[in-house]
Amino acid sequence: MTSRNEELVALAMEEIEKAGAVVKSDPHLPSFHLMPPVGLLNDPNGFIQWNGVYHVFFQWMPFKTEHGAKFWGHYTSTDLVNWTLRSPALAPGDWFDKNGCYSGSAVAHDDKMVLFYTGNVKDEGGNRESYQCMAESSDGITFDKKGVVLELPEGYTPHFRDPKVWKHEDKWFMVIGAQNSEEEGRVVLFESLDLTRWEYKGDVTASRHQKLGEFGYMWECPDLFELDGSDVLLFSPQGIEAEGYSYQNVYQTGYLSGELDYETGILNHDTFRELDRGFEFYAPQTTEDEKGRRLLIGWMGVPEQGEAHQPTRKHHWLHTLTIPRELRYRGGKLIQKPVAELDDMRQNEVVKKATLSNEKMEWKEGNTTVYELLVKVKDVEGSFSITFRNNAAIVFDSVEKLLTLKRRRFVDGSEESRSCHIESVSELRFYVDSSSIEVFINGGEEVFTSRYFPAEEDDSLVFKSNGKADIEAVKWDISNHIKV
Ligand code: FRU
Repeated sequence: MTSRNEELVALAMEEIEKAGAVVKSDPHLPSFHLMPPVGLLNDPNGFIQWNGVYHVFFQWMPFKTEHGAKFWGHYTSTDLVNWTLRSPALAPGDWFDKNGCYSGSAVAHDDKMVLFYTGNVKDEGGNRESYQCMAESSDGITFDKKGVVLELPEGYTPHFRDPKVWKHEDKWFMVIGAQNSEEEGRVVLFESLDLTRWEYKGDVTASRHQKLGEFGYMWECPDLFELDGSDVLLFSPQGIEAEGYSYQNVYQTGYLSGELDYETGILNHDTFRELDRGFEFYAPQTTEDEKGRRLLIGWMGVPEQGEAHQPTRKHHWLHTLTIPRELRYRGGKLIQKPVAELDDMRQNEVVKKATLSNEKMEWKEGNTTVYELLVKVKDVEGSFSITFRNNAAIVFDSVEKLLTLKRRRFVDGSEESRSCHIESVSELRFYVDSSSIEVFINGGEEVFTSRYFPAEEDDSLVFKSNGKADIEAVKWDISNHIKV
């Protein structure tokens, strides 16, 4: 490591030291979601299981709760449940990454873990340059930067970033999120035999493709993988207009599925589908683990969407990642399920059964604020809702066949909502942390991921039917699983 990198890491560690007590005194501190030890976290990076150990890196700004010259923070786990914070993996201390070690991925090669990331550089005039860079580790804890492996090809603006690398047969492939010279979103494919020399193959697909139409001015954080017989391109496009209940967030995340022709580099695909219906979900990344599962973890945030108003900023930290999920591809759709290991977090089981007819039921037994709640619902007439700490609620309207997540706005406490159409609801599985709710509907057919910031003293949980609903609910407490 050069002395500038060492100096930056030392300053970041000092920041953790200084702010530690203020961060830890926050009532909204998560118990089982990855968070920054101080400062701002955004995208998950370099998600990999390497020699049995899961690694999740994250975009990290240690010095303020705003975006800037990012580090790569680092957590490890042997079970996807208990996580330990490690020393920062990358610091923005070289000419090719001086304004940020931006997002990227990890692969295993020749007994080493190899990282690919984007070096973000800005000159005095604020003009951007971007370099795709490599770093290596033999122990999974300390990383040696190997410098630039790929420069900006012709035909694209410097919004060219977030390399995701994978192996297919005997070759390596890389997708990059890009904007072309016409200011349209693109995902660009490269191939390599040795991970250091990369050959340009072209755009995997493009906005104005017949299945997409006009589709935004920049596509971030692409990921391309094979799952259950289909190729899936996951990415986060920017510049998509809201349309009915779709595309309600400032920026979106979704996927195209079809077949990638590895010779031509073109993905023959279907229409775009949003992956999550909630308020905060962006830039997810997947990996295939040693059990052969396709796992996904996302950022529980959206760039420029209410970031400045999140109350945790008072405690010198901002944003978390989602829980790890397992993906399957079924009936033309990605299905997301919390990884099975999360069942090990369950403590103090409480069960409740009730038929609610135009009535309210408060959950009184052992009220807590951090838990898993599994609700089986039958015979819903009219609508049915569950309200969390008077701050967020899920509502199923069986007449409109509409599922809605409502919450209080961070800015002024007024109500806002996100919805999706759904034929029927039979199961709702909630992962509720002190400042977030993730809801998996009908075994992961739809998911709503959102932050919420209820009053500390309010631990209420209320079920209500306007009509009739037959419910069977199980609740398990969850204790702390993150070592910062
Ligand atoms: C997505 C993103 C990436 C970039 C990173 C910088 O949230 O904008 O495109 O690499 O964040 O932190």
